[in-house]
Amino acid sequence: MRKMCLLGIAISLASSCAWAQTPSVALEHKAAFITDLMNRMTLDEKVGQLRLISIASDMPRELIRTEIAAGRIGGTFNSVTRPENRPMQDAAMRSRLKIPMFFAYDVIHGHRTIFPISLALASSWDMEAIALSGRVSAKEASADSLDLTFAPMVDIARDPRWGRTSEGFGEDTYLVSRIAKVMVQAYQGVSPALPGNIMASVKHFALYGAVEGGRDYNIVDMSPTRMFQDYLPPYHAAIDAGAGSVMVALNSINGVPATSNTWLMQDLLRKQWGFKGVAVSDHGAILELIKHGVAKDEREAATLAIKAGVDMSMNDLVYGKELPGLIRSGKVPQSDLDNAVREVLGAKYDMGLFKDPYLRIGNAEDDPADINAESRLHRAEAREVARKSQVLLKNESRTLPLNKRANIALIGPLADSKIDMLGSWSGAGVPAQSVTVLEGLRAAVGKPGTLTYARGANVTDDQAVVDYLNYSNPNMLDLTNDPRPAQAMLDEAVKVAQQADVIVAVVGEARGMSHEAASRTDLDLPATQRALISALKATGKPLVLVLMNGRPLSIGDQVQQADAVLETWYSGTEGGNAIADVLFGDYNPSGKLPITFPRSVGQIPSYYSHLRIGRPFTPGKPGNYTSQYFDAPNTPLYPFGYGLSYTDFSVSAPQLSANTLKPGSALTASVTVKNTGQRAGETVVQLYIQDVSASMSRPVKELKNFQKLMLQPGEEKVVQFSIDEDALKFYNTQLQYAAEPGEFNVQIGLDSQNVQQTSFQLL
Ligand code: NOJ
Repeated sequence: MRKMCLLGIAISLASSCAWAQTPSVALEHKAAFITDLMNRMTLDEKVGQLRLISIASDMPRELIRTEIAAGRIGGTFNSVTRPENRPMQDAAMRSRLKIPMFFAYDVIHGHRTIFPISLALASSWDMEAIALSGRVSAKEASADSLDLTFAPMVDIARDPRWGRTSEGFGEDTYLVSRIAKVMVQAYQGVSPALPGNIMASVKHFALYGAVEGGRDYNIVDMSPTRMFQDYLPPYHAAIDAGAGSVMVALNSINGVPATSNTWLMQDLLRKQWGFKGVAVSDHGAILELIKHGVAKDEREAATLAIKAGVDMSMNDLVYGKELPGLIRSGKVPQSDLDNAVREVLGAKYDMGLFKDPYLRIGNAEDDPADINAESRLHRAEAREVARKSQVLLKNESRTLPLNKRANIALIGPLADSKIDMLGSWSGAGVPAQSVTVLEGLRAAVGKPGTLTYARGANVTDDQAVVDYLNYSNPNMLDLTNDPRPAQAMLDEAVKVAQQADVIVAVVGEARGMSHEAASRTDLDLPATQRALISALKATGKPLVLVLMNGRPLSIGDQVQQADAVLETWYSGTEGGNAIADVLFGDYNPSGKLPITFPRSVGQIPSYYSHLRIGRPFTPGKPGNYTSQYFDAPNTPLYPFGYGLSYTDFSVSAPQLSANTLKPGSALTASVTVKNTGQRAGETVVQLYIQDVSASMSRPVKELKNFQKLMLQPGEEKVVQFSIDEDALKFYNTQLQYAAEPGEFNVQIGLDSQNVQQTSFQLL
């Protein structure tokens, strides 16, 4: 029978209730309820609540259940089905105080149905589509008994060498902050206490995206103004949106690891921002304080972390081993432990688990017969979002869209790869259920014979890279190379290409190349694929590159060789169908880059909103003694906000409702956007502002708002943006957040570089 504990009934019908021993205080009164519970907890039970363990397939389940029943585990992650989690919750219900477990997982861009990777979601600039991906993820995860996701990941990424660039929403503070809010609201719905909703744990707090050299787990060294202005706002937005949890970053910040950083976790997060949820460490991070060189042993590591405010310890035993002794000896005050326990219990309360520990686990008789059943997927939603996430980078002579009756040569190591289509952090997604480009194009073309496929090359023939990428997943290899000689594969592809009207080459990175612990020193396509593209180009046939990758790539040469380039990132379960929709024009691409594409690694960090400098390079003028590299242009390969459509748009010069702005009021900037082409299409109108002169150098421009709109051929619409004092505020050298009077430039356009400008004065 399903165990339930409803308030009131819990007290009067104690024998039938999971809560027979606990609720002496009404469940409605969160603080009192938790205090009452804590008053009855032993020291060991309290410490047990701080332990968050990863469930690996080879772990002895009986042992885990014994630990849970003894009150020594607070929550788990990586167990993702109801039958797996029910016995653990049963064990918790056998524990002395019957404190429920929670079950977490990395639901990053989908759970069973995989949506495009986060960087791709950001490319849609479509908040409804992004919210849809989050809602479906929450629904599916909740149906699989999960209570919390380690998402959204809102680390600003400006160094694409960092493999986790794929996991975030790009380089821009404003865009990522908007998405952070949308994602938290999508996961948590009106309340994380309701089934169908899950709690969000925003990560990685803080600044993980700025690891030095783009090398994962490296240090972060950053000025306070940059921190507050550029990197912290997305976490803050997630917390303001009600995120119930925060995951602490693995990196240090100006020499102090986030995990032991009292300023970060107490002063900023809790006192300044008012965060009231649970802070979980990242994997093994408390123990890593020893390797950071700030703790001499485990005892000191536990002391630093608990004092800093890390409530739960993810997958290390340090708290369990050390905290009881530290509390007994008085080295760690009881109040530090109690604060942490209160947050863990509070989060469980907020997830609705005290009311019903089986809220998301449900009854055994209702468990899905087949966890991977097609009927459990949300394919229509995934396809809709995936096609909105693609970015058309080049389209010479209107090579795209393709004609379905054309004779198409589909080439490339990623053209028929199911696993890569899912991208990294693909939750409980099953590669067999994903649609490859080959499958998607075949389905779209309908009639066999007009589409011929050849692999052409491996993603890479560098065996060291193949071995590295396959290391962590021996049961599901990320890269399976074709054993044929490279030349034989190339020859086959060229032959197929020669007989076609057009070549579609699907190239890029294997998904493992854009992942945790997958930093690169160059951003080129691997040599095998560069050779393939050159050979295909030599056939003289129109060449379309379909890119699958999780970070900007320096592909200038390949772009030059191609007639059209479509960035598809990793598009998820319905990727192949969505890509076919775009390639054949059944959907007109509308995505815009959420991150700059540098020409080469040498241009990194490459982001559009850099501070102004004393000797800027001016295009068209001699560059001597200006800020530039003399061996390459200053401009990126593709700027932030860039993306084409199959139709054309014009944007009028911006008009302002006033030339001055009084603090406390607002003015309106407006442009007329017209679809001047032949097809209906969507575009993203972007508003940038530049503070012309201030008490400190300010960025050349900053995104302050945007609107995505659909226009029929010939149709025009007026787009209006309201600008108030808040949009002009920044953190000055004293970290005061204020706008300074003076001139501001307003720039509006369809990407960050192609803009028209006007200006006003803030009085
Ligand atoms: C380590 C990663 O840094 C983090 O993002 C993830 O949530 C945890 N592992 C749990 O899988």
